[in-house]
Amino acid sequence: MNNSQKIRTLSKVIVLGDSGVGKTSLMNHINFQFRYAYRKFSQQYKATIGADFVTKELQIADKLITLQIWDTAGQERFRSLGPAFYRGADCCVLVYDVNIHKTFDKLNNWHDEFLHQADLDGAETFPFVLIGNKVDLDGGNSRRVTENKAREWCASRGNIPYFETSAKEGYNVDEAFLCVAKISLDNE
Ligand code: GTP
Ligand code: MG
Repeated sequence: MNNSQKIRTLSKVIVLGDSGVGKTSLMNHINFQFRYAYRKFSQQYKATIGADFVTKELQIADKLITLQIWDTAGQERFRSLGPAFYRGADCCVLVYDVNIHKTFDKLNNWHDEFLHQADLDGAETFPFVLIGNKVDLDGGNSRRVTENKAREWCASRGNIPYFETSAKEGYNVDEAFLCVAKISLDNE
């Protein structure tokens, strides 16, 4: 079977979380063009203003899925545009920084804001994925949120899949988005 005969699916994914948790860095990691053009992770923080998306095509069994992944601004003053992009979403990825407890505490807000603003049909069953980013920092010594605590939160919100990542080291990022792709296919 050649590519044109395969079943193709497009899935819209929204990435949300506090400013500085690493949403754009995660996106840059999965954006191959970006990686080849710039070759490395940037330490420099440049706030996202508004929103932007990257696409990533994945093959799962005999299916091709294109993820259209939207990166939104975490900073309050740039948030106003965010919800305009939620409509038609198939999955929402929430991101926090395992080294900053406040970014974990805010997950309830992001989760609820998304559900309220996205204008969904089946809000109870809408798929989320949680990412705890920056596990590389200080060799794990500056960590403030345990994996157990994060998993408890996921369980309390209807068994949300959980991944711990480092956008800096490229650790577990592809795995997290493969899960997003599988969820999208399951919900076809
Ligand atoms: P907003 O656009 O303001 O919402 O922030 P953001 O969530 O997009 O954060 P961004 O990706 O810009 O990253 C913020 C800072 O954290 C940057 O200085 C990154 O270099 C750094 N950073 C991102 N991911 C990691 C990581 O996995 N490990 C480490 N050590 N630093 C990271
Ligand atoms: Mg950003």
